[in-house]
Amino acid sequence: RRVLVVNGPNLGRLGVRQPDVYGHQDLQTLREDCERWGRDLGLDVEVRQTDDEAEMIHWMHEAADGAIPVVMNPAAFTHYSYGLADAAHMVGDAGVPLMEVHISNPASRDEFRKRSVISPVATGTITGLGFFGYRLALEAIAHIMGE
Ligand code: DQA
Repeated sequence: RRVLVVNGPNLGRLGVRQPDVYGHQDLQTLREDCERWGRDLGLDVEVRQTDDEAEMIHWMHEAADGAIPVVMNPAAFTHYSYGLADAAHMVGDAGVPLMEVHISNPASRDEFRKRSVISPVATGTITGLGFFGYRLALEAIAHIMGE
């Protein structure tokens, strides 16, 4: 079963951007980790990243049309993109899980990070566990999809 792991703005800068918050490992490492974790779980994982809100929304349309489960780190879109929230809702309407993941714990940081417009439409949310959160999200998808 296919799973899309989508990452929002500035996550292409992992390893360089605030390593104290996001760690020293880069997006390529995250990609390889997710692909390996997926294989262990019988999931065919594709990891993507974009800085473009429209592109991220289109990926959700693709997931909804194909009934493809999603792991999403919406990055800063988390806090204000109703367009992405509406698109994420469609994935749920397609009957497949959408797991929200944050590398850091946004609740312990700036005031503007305390609100997620994605959480209300996500199947579940994992925060504060670094890259390991993606693994847990993939396990949750495997569990929910009964694999
Ligand atoms: C983030 C948290 C967001 O507040 C921030 O804008 C990000 C990354 C995280 O993974 O911890 O870009 O989603």
